[in-house]
Amino acid sequence: MNEYPLLKGKNAIITGASRGIGKAVATRLANEGVNVVLAARTKETLDETVKEITKQSSVKVRGVACDVSKLEDLQKLVSVAMKELGGIDILINNAGVSSQYPFEQQPLEDIERLAHTNYLGYVRLIRLVINHMIEKKGGAIINMVSGSTMVDPVPRTFVTYSSLKVGLRAFLKGLFWEMRDHGIKITSILPGVVDTELTDKLDNIAQEQRDRLMSPETVVDMVMFALSVPANACPLELAVINQRTPWTKPIIDYKQTQAK
Ligand SMILES: NC(=O)c1ccc[n+]([C@@H]2O[C@H](COP(=O)([O-])OP(=O)(O)OC[C@H]3O[C@@H](n4cnc5c(N)ncnc54)[C@H](OP(=O)(O)O)[C@@H]3O)[C@@H](O)[C@H]2O)c1
Repeated sequence: MNEYPLLKGKNAIITGASRGIGKAVATRLANEGVNVVLAARTKETLDETVKEITKQSSVKVRGVACDVSKLEDLQKLVSVAMKELGGIDILINNAGVSSQYPFEQQPLEDIERLAHTNYLGYVRLIRLVINHMIEKKGGAIINMVSGSTMVDPVPRTFVTYSSLKVGLRAFLKGLFWEMRDHGIKITSILPGVVDTELTDKLDNIAQEQRDRLMSPETVVDMVMFALSVPANACPLELAVINQRTPWTKPIIDYKQTQAK
């Protein structure tokens, strides 16, 4: 039996859905009867995930190879979703990349990549679906932001990543007030450190301690909460932070190799 019967028959786009948090969200939504369009850059991994979810659910599952940092790819994603599903009720804005550098060593291309993926990718995709949702007088836009936005100042070596997420969080908080008038819900999810490929290479998390990280399913639970609250309420921001990782704290340690 479905745990969230009101979601059955809805249509969703999920970006960054081939692995990690996005894949876990897509899997749960499909199991709850939501038709899903999955987006990611690497076609092979995406196809595998589409196959896997199709096998275990009875909904429409489509994959669109798409780089969210490219406007034309986002336009293609929305037009495939509209054509294949007939409408969009839910957008899960999740595709993101991370990197850790002392700022003076961060390549300029890396700064651009983060900005185009983690900020512009989210804002542009919302812009591309918003008039459709306004016309339908409803929709839910759930955005994977970051628990690092609660650290002020943003953590060293993550300055570009985290400050873009801070900007995104500010944008979403403001957008909520505009979209509320149209019956559209805007939610920011602020996860702590989750056990995915994104955090595989972090300097300050030892491999043997990874089982203390949150699993993507914990983040999925937040998404399901956001999608299931009554129509007269909107979870504007949901934070779930690590409880058993003493090395994640408001000031993230950094080995300052250049220090004299
Ligand atoms: N893991 C954490 O601890 C954590 C904490 C806070 C927030 N978050 C946020 O949660 C989101 C998901 O993170 P995750 O940990 O699940 O990452 P992940 O395991 O690395 O998965 C990222 C997904 O996004 C896709 N992707 C990356 N760049 C893309 C692009 N330019 N266009 C389209 N798809 C792209 C990847 O597939 P391709 O590479 O094939 O494109 C993959 O499907 C990110 O926005 C991240 O910032 C994560």
